[in-house]
Amino acid sequence: MNEDSIKIARKYMDSLLVESRIIGAVHPASKITFCGYEFDTPIMTAALSHIDLVSMAEGAKKLNAPVSIGMGDNDELKKVLATGAHVMKIIKPYKDRDEIFSRIECARENGAMAVGMDVEHSVNVDDDEDSIVVGKEMKLPTVEELREYVETAKIPFFIKGALSVHDAVKALELGCKGIILSHHNGLMRCAVPPVMLLPEIRDEVGDDLTLIVDGGIESGFDAFKAIALGADLVSIGKPLMDPIKEEGAEGAYSLLKKMTGQLRAMMCRTGAKDLESIDPSVIWME
Ligand SMILES: Cc1cc2nc3c(=O)[nH]c(=O)nc-3n(C[C@H](O)[C@H](O)[C@H](O)COP(=O)(O)O)c2cc1C
Repeated sequence: MNEDSIKIARKYMDSLLVESRIIGAVHPASKITFCGYEFDTPIMTAALSHIDLVSMAEGAKKLNAPVSIGMGDNDELKKVLATGAHVMKIIKPYKDRDEIFSRIECARENGAMAVGMDVEHSVNVDDDEDSIVVGKEMKLPTVEELREYVETAKIPFFIKGALSVHDAVKALELGCKGIILSHHNGLMRCAVPPVMLLPEIRDEVGDDLTLIVDGGIESGFDAFKAIALGADLVSIGKPLMDPIKEEGAEGAYSLLKKMTGQLRAMMCRTGAKDLESIDPSVIWME
């Protein structure tokens, strides 16, 4: 029995193979416009926490990569934003809704490019009770509450943990700018791999939602597969942990740079001159 969504997603990713279209290929560009800013890579930091987020943001900024960060207080958020990096703050589904409104306001007032909520962390893995995360009570948000958060934000809002056409359509109806397809390190057991869902979701929502894929993106080659199948951006979490612990901002910068290089290598070898030109038909399934 394998209920581990991380392993299931890895197996799926490894089953995707890429054909070469080297004749006539050119050196590609990996620029992307996201939430009104131009970045040099579609590989962003995942919503991490309990790590030096200032160094993570500094490293991403050096490469001109987008940043997302996870739970933490408003002081930490201000410090991350003071780096000048373009940041999406992912807010927990706190039971105390004032905690949510205060973070939304802090993010907006201090120049965050977007906010979001990791709705997937509101309930436990093995029962349907609301979670407690690092001593803080969470609550499964209602659709009305989510709508209120989206409207209060007045900057782009993302739902993290959306993993179906159903959720994508709901997010669109709520006025979200996009979704982060994520099972949050297996919080959802037996989850359909986020990358597997991409084509169906993209077909349904077209360009109306920005699609970010998270979970098990370990290289720029993985990032390429996700983008080919419909992602606008990918985000990386666990692979950044050791580089940040060992080398701080330089560690984050080096890893994002290496992965962006691998992504560009694959774009070049498949004849894509830019991200929009990546052709899904280069992907084969084993
Ligand atoms: C140490 C650590 C802390 C995390 N904290 C948060 C968080 O506060 N909010 C959130 O939405 N996700 C959080 N995540 C989940 C990541 O954003 C991401 O969904 C997950 O790690 C899967 O991506 P990966 O396979 O690239 O690590 C955390 C992950 C790790 C490893």
